[in-house]
Amino acid sequence: MCGIVGYIGSRGAYPILINGLKRLEYRGYDSAGVALQNGGVRIYRKTGKVARLEEFCKDKDTNGTIGIGHTRWATHGEPSDANAHPHISKYGDVVLVHNGIIENYTALALILNQCGYALDPREKTDTEILANWIEHIWHEQKKESTCTFEDAVRDSLRTVVGAYAIVVITPHDHQMIVANHGSTGLVLGIGRDEIFVGSDATPFIDYTKDVITIEDGQMAVLLEKGEYHIKNSEQKEIEPAIEKVLLTLEEIEKGAFPHFMLKEIFEQPKTIADSMRGRISLANSKVLLGGMKIHEERIARARKIVFVACGTSYYASLIGEYLIETLARIDVQVEYASEFRYRNPILGEDDVVIGISQSGETADTNEAVKLAHTKGALVLGICNVVGAMMSKINDGGTYTHAGKEIGVASTKAFTAQLTVLSLFALWMGRTRGMIDENKYQILLRELESIPASVEKVLAQDALIRDIAKKYYQSTNAIYLGRGINFPVALEGPLKLKEISYIHAEGYPAAEMKHGPIALIDENMPVIFIATEGEYLDKVKSNMNTVKSRGGKIIAIVTEGDTEISSLANVVVPVPKVSEIFSPFLTVVPLQLLAYHIAAFRGTDIDKPRNLSKSVSVE
Ligand code: G6P
Repeated sequence: MCGIVGYIGSRGAYPILINGLKRLEYRGYDSAGVALQNGGVRIYRKTGKVARLEEFCKDKDTNGTIGIGHTRWATHGEPSDANAHPHISKYGDVVLVHNGIIENYTALALILNQCGYALDPREKTDTEILANWIEHIWHEQKKESTCTFEDAVRDSLRTVVGAYAIVVITPHDHQMIVANHGSTGLVLGIGRDEIFVGSDATPFIDYTKDVITIEDGQMAVLLEKGEYHIKNSEQKEIEPAIEKVLLTLEEIEKGAFPHFMLKEIFEQPKTIADSMRGRISLANSKVLLGGMKIHEERIARARKIVFVACGTSYYASLIGEYLIETLARIDVQVEYASEFRYRNPILGEDDVVIGISQSGETADTNEAVKLAHTKGALVLGICNVVGAMMSKINDGGTYTHAGKEIGVASTKAFTAQLTVLSLFALWMGRTRGMIDENKYQILLRELESIPASVEKVLAQDALIRDIAKKYYQSTNAIYLGRGINFPVALEGPLKLKEISYIHAEGYPAAEMKHGPIALIDENMPVIFIATEGEYLDKVKSNMNTVKSRGGKIIAIVTEGDTEISSLANVVVPVPKVSEIFSPFLTVVPLQLLAYHIAAFRGTDIDKPRNLSKSVSVE
């Protein structure tokens, strides 16, 4: 996904656009660009991060009170200055930024070429074609009638296929047009005599908290002096709701932390508590999940539960599988959303499909959810971003309330997902009579104490940093875990790969002997999750196997352990909790380990190469 910004008012647009783009960089950072209208339109674009664009613009004319900007995550066309947005049309009449995909851009290019445009769709991006398409329609319509800029944008979009949010300007009018088709990332910030545009509200929350969401199918014309006109897909002008955005500046700033990722790791005691807040009734100690309760009867008699998700959310779902199967005794299936969609899955109205997503914008997950709907399953969503697409396409669900996650590598969103999944499993277990009241109460109390235990794990930061210092030059790593900690042994290497670019793999500990063991030598760090639980003896024997082949063992153990400490090269102790809640504690050292290793390697931790915070293309 890309980030888009806009400003129309009486201030200089440039600093607003640049600062806004910096805040949206988590969405993509392959290139950045701005266009400023001031008696013509000037466009500045640069490959790489926004700071590079800012440097490039230092000695340029950046005047103008109308402007648009873009930070790109490349999907069509390589990251280059030429492919960076904003794009301008052939005759210079249309300038636009775009987030999403124009699917029929090749067909549009063919028509344009018949009209003298000479655009090779193999060399041009979908956005470039779209800018020219709008211009072409404008020119064609002007031949027959008076056609405004607004008419041209609206009419040209009728033939455009895809999911997109766009912001368009022209050198000929003091206005800006925004349109949304199938995208969730487009909001207006309403100031006194000015309007801001953003993929979300972060670019402008220091100027205004009044926000209008441009919904799917809507188009808005923004004028100077803060005037706006929004039309729905039937071209009827609507009176939109203005909402107060709750986001604070503190939430989107790093404070004393060097990176957002570290800040977000350290926020986890609070975010886990926030995810629980109001969901355990004080009066009768019961789980309250409002958005799911209405479907209680159908969930309780479900034949199976299917999770669909991607990335870190997929690993959280795998832990959900253990939780639900253990506590509620229902068959659970966990699917990569992208694969699930193309398998013609067997689903019916006795099944419950749960989409899990931090952003609620991941295209594969949302499409999987939609597919499940067509098959008659009850569809629920667990997502973090309030109002995201996922919250609009399901029958019910719940938010994780972890607050804004800016670091591209997901951390606090993961433990917030575990919190909601734990509550859900406990609720189902009790509703289905699979756990008795006594056990239910004990587990609820224990869940409430998890934030304090996570705090204790965070106190091991210095130890973990020392471990990172020793191993940061490794080129490979293996992570091993069993049972409910097997998915943690998948999430750990994902974090390491994402931000340090070290090749790492996670396996069920016992599976190691069926192949990965061949990789073990004295240079291979092997990270074991070896906390107390059903399989600890088995994990110990796997550890002995690694030790006898010279592997370097880093083990996450339960406080008080002495046995593993004698086997491993180094141990990180975490507090003792019931095995089903142990992932909350075992994942934190792995997040910190990945963070410190990446810091020693000097990578760009919050904006790792090639990644995007959420992937809204299939
Ligand atoms: C991207 C991000 C990952 C994330 C995944 C799923 O790949 O870089 O950190 O886990 O998308 O995102 P979601 O928003 O659906 O949880």
